[in-house]
Amino acid sequence: MNKASILLLPGDGIGPEVINELVKVMDWFSSNRGIEFDISKDDLGGAAYDRYGTPLSDDTLAVAKEVDAIVMGSVGGPQWDNVERHLRPEAGLLTLRKELDLFANLRPATCMPALAAASSLKQDLVSGLDILILRELTAGVYFGEPRGIETMPDGRRRALDTQVYFESEIERLVRVGFELAAKRNKKVHSVEKANVMETGVFWRQIATRVGKEYPDITLEHMYADNCAMQLVRQPKQFDVIATDNLFGDILSDCAAMLTGSLGMLPSASLGAEVNGKRSALYEPVHGSAPDIAGQGKANPLATILSFAMCLRFSLNRNQDADLLESAVDNILANNIRTIDIAATGADPVSTSAMGAALIDELNSLSQAS
Ligand code: IPM
Ligand code: MG
Repeated sequence: MNKASILLLPGDGIGPEVINELVKVMDWFSSNRGIEFDISKDDLGGAAYDRYGTPLSDDTLAVAKEVDAIVMGSVGGPQWDNVERHLRPEAGLLTLRKELDLFANLRPATCMPALAAASSLKQDLVSGLDILILRELTAGVYFGEPRGIETMPDGRRRALDTQVYFESEIERLVRVGFELAAKRNKKVHSVEKANVMETGVFWRQIATRVGKEYPDITLEHMYADNCAMQLVRQPKQFDVIATDNLFGDILSDCAAMLTGSLGMLPSASLGAEVNGKRSALYEPVHGSAPDIAGQGKANPLATILSFAMCLRFSLNRNQDADLLESAVDNILANNIRTIDIAATGADPVSTSAMGAALIDELNSLSQAS
């Protein structure tokens, strides 16, 4: 694809800073690699609430549905803690996921040797780690009805959330898992709680059935609690972990920490292909980090690596994605680090200096080739 419409949603906290660096990278790709970007930019989350009175405006959603891809910064912050739930920053993101049917959330957790020392686990357990958490993103307890806090006729109050999955929702998710594993290390762990939950029993049945269509892929079933334990015990045993919305939320944070820096991890949320087009949202796994917002400390690499996933999955530009990923590897190997990944005693660089270093590296890589 040589022309691409991209909607940027910087959001809250450090989101705008990291998206600023991404814009420089996108400019570089349009000047040097001939991709014509039609960029639009809008508010999401708390920023949208402050400006439009809603965390996702109808106009923003309409644009989101049209573009080739969306790149988001992050949403949320303490100043919106007391806003009603449906108007909170997170609600904007959840609506976007649901409305665009972005059911397949890919969260790779890779640990570059240069960063292995930053992990809270022993270096040999995580060095070279390359796992992919595939999280179902548009169903399960995040969206299940009924939900609410209510008062019973006898005056007792209670709260409820509902975990519900249609067969089709599980099937399409695990299918993506098998397809991804086929291009990786050919192993899928399907993760649920079949020992206590009906949705877990159902999930296991469907994963088993779909798995028969992929004889080259090893399918293993694992309970979610065991998976959490195995992730910190021996993370390299995993290749693709396919799991539901809530377990995926939790396990992906756990996997992220293994790699030494949350500030490095990209993600992609993909919809089903309809008439040759697939909705897609790319975002860093890290949150809005309000404590360091506006101080030039944020690491823009997770957002930039999310854009590399965009080049790969939405724009079909694998070589450009490889180039961008190599540039990131090289600057880290040259010890250019923001504070979250800086080695002790080394001087960390600012968000914009990291962006500038990346552009320099892209220039030297492209001159060399
Ligand atoms: C994530 C986040 C979101 C989630 C929040 C911000 C709604 O934790 O993307 O993992 O729970 O899905
Ligand atoms: Mg989360």
